[in-house]
Amino acid sequence: MTKDIYIGGILKNEEIQENCFLMKVKLASSFEDPLPGQFVMIRIAGLNDPFLSRPISIYSFSRGKNYCLIELLFRVVGKGTQILAGLIKGSQVEIHGPLGNGFEIQTVKKNIVFIAGGIGIAPLSLLIESLCRRAYCSPSVMTVYLGFQGASTVVGLDKLKKLCRDITVCTDDGIMGKKGLVTQIFQKDVRKFSPDNTSIYACGPKEMLKSLAKILNKSKFSCQVSLEERMACGTGACMGCAVAIKDKKGVFDYKRVCADGPVFNLQNIIWESRI
Ligand SMILES: Cc1cc2nc3c(=O)[nH]c(=O)nc-3n(C[C@H](O)[C@H](O)[C@H](O)COP(=O)(O)OP(=O)(O)OC[C@H]3O[C@@H](n4cnc5c(N)ncnc54)[C@H](O)[C@@H]3O)c2cc1C
Ligand code: FES
Repeated sequence: MTKDIYIGGILKNEEIQENCFLMKVKLASSFEDPLPGQFVMIRIAGLNDPFLSRPISIYSFSRGKNYCLIELLFRVVGKGTQILAGLIKGSQVEIHGPLGNGFEIQTVKKNIVFIAGGIGIAPLSLLIESLCRRAYCSPSVMTVYLGFQGASTVVGLDKLKKLCRDITVCTDDGIMGKKGLVTQIFQKDVRKFSPDNTSIYACGPKEMLKSLAKILNKSKFSCQVSLEERMACGTGACMGCAVAIKDKKGVFDYKRVCADGPVFNLQNIIWESRI
């Protein structure tokens, strides 16, 4: 579906953790309510270097009388995010979205498990917030696993603590929370959850998602993951973000992370033969 491009005004762009920024952007009220897991393509209005927009998940969304507000939580990793980090209140950005499919919210399950690696917390945070607004979904059914490289890279925890009770933080060095990779810590707990009654949602680096795929291999858990790929158009036109996915009949196919995803069923992702 074609989505409009909006010029947004930055209300706040704060370094909340080393190299990690929380940007609040005001947009026209015609910007659609995003589904959790959807993203925007963002670039600086009027700047052609870098030319391509960057995909960033919608971390929070709210509506005012004649406007809406989105928050983006992003880590500086290269030129595009470095330039975004330098923007100050009053700067303008070009925002295309909301894009992608978003997470499918399944019918009531006894347990909902969220597994985030690093900045992967951003789309899951909006999902948790949205689930908390549903009458059937109490904090007691939610279990959250958050993995970070170290204590200095932990972000988004305060917001989640207001929504969920059962949060396990893991860091590679163990200085904060449990020591180990988030998938290792989840693997120790996996028997606590019954596959028929549990939905799992995950977002994080490719290696984390591959480990999760191994842990859940041949199990009956339903697990949706949000994939990250480099993107050029962000709207399905260039095929630059194609990944190998099994279709409903188990046949190999290519899907575009921007238009068909970014959320896919973990069991359908073909890791080895991805482009
Ligand atoms: C659907 C989606 C949602 C995303 N949401 C967020 C978010 O909420 N917060 C956030 O911080 N980041 C998010 N990302 C990743 C973000 O888009 C990249 O970090 C950003 O585009 C990097 O741009 P750059 O110019 O700073 O870095 P580049 O100079 O383009 O790249 C720097 C390094 O990052 C790697 N890289 C670049 N783009 C990606 C990518 N899309 N996926 C994985 N590695 C990449 C490159 O290979 C390189 O090693 C998301 C990506 C996708 C596809
Ligand atoms: S980025 Fe162009 S098709 Fe996905």
